[in-house]
Amino acid sequence: MKLILDLDTGIDDALALTYALGQPEAELIGVTTTFGNVTIDKAVKNTLDLLALLNREDVPVFRGSVFPWGSNSYQTTDDLHRVHGLNGIGNVVLLESSKAVQSQSAVDFLIESAENFGEDLTIVTAGPLTNLAEAIKKNSTAMSKVGRIVMMAGALTIPGNLSPFAEANVLNDPLAAKFVLESGISFTMIGLDVTLQTMIDQKDIKQWQTIPTNAAKAITEMTTYYYTNEYSGEEFGGALHDPLAVAAAIDPAILTQVLPINLTVETTGPSIGRTIGDLTGLNNPIKSAAVGLAVDSTAFLEDFFTITNNFLMNVKSI
Ligand code: RIB
Ligand code: CA
Repeated sequence: MKLILDLDTGIDDALALTYALGQPEAELIGVTTTFGNVTIDKAVKNTLDLLALLNREDVPVFRGSVFPWGSNSYQTTDDLHRVHGLNGIGNVVLLESSKAVQSQSAVDFLIESAENFGEDLTIVTAGPLTNLAEAIKKNSTAMSKVGRIVMMAGALTIPGNLSPFAEANVLNDPLAAKFVLESGISFTMIGLDVTLQTMIDQKDIKQWQTIPTNAAKAITEMTTYYYTNEYSGEEFGGALHDPLAVAAAIDPAILTQVLPINLTVETTGPSIGRTIGDLTGLNNPIKSAAVGLAVDSTAFLEDFFTITNNFLMNVKSI
């Protein structure tokens, strides 16, 4: 499987990248970046530096969207700084990558890859859906050839996290999300409905702390920041939002309950960013979304730590 990750490289995005690089049956052919947890410049820098840390500077990084549809600026919020730190990776300072971002845009890379690999290509989005929306808008014929699109986005049966109604990736660009969800392109939605069933905290990452590599040390520091802050003050820790989207792309059977549905996104009023059934598609027998409602959390967490432990153990320190 050829895999593209679309990241707003924050901490769970970094964990998704590590997990994807450890997957024997997936070839990560590129990472496209977007604003979201951080500004686009930080998303590009964090992704390049993480690939250097993980000794995979062969993976090309593409610069994507700078701000959401309908806006000409983007500022990260205190909420995002609380969860991901000011630099997006838990204020952990990494050695600077020697690689540069690609000259080709993220959108053109997505389209070119869809044309080149078609059914064999899986795209996992883990940030706002702006890059994907731009690619569908520019060449829907090409994008309809993509084998699978799995997005960490939305919340269908539970409240949001960035507002009571909206999950962060959707709320950070509701117009782009609405366009993608209504485009007719098929996708799997990995929303908070399932990602909040995959929480980790200190006990879970003990295994990483014994791995004598710089990569393990940095990933441990980032994750400690993350589970300390994402759901602080409750019994929760940090949710493996983006890694679960990678898991569902690699093995759809990890989702034990999936709802076929046509979705839309509310784009005005207090419930802006809410993902909800599309009334106009209610009686359409063709359902473009498959929404994860239940997940085998035990199996996922076991696989996540098996894959990441093995990968982090074998990363040659730079
Ligand atoms: O709501 C969680 C999502 O928003 C994750 O992708 C996290 O990285 C942030 O982008
Ligand atoms: Ca993300």
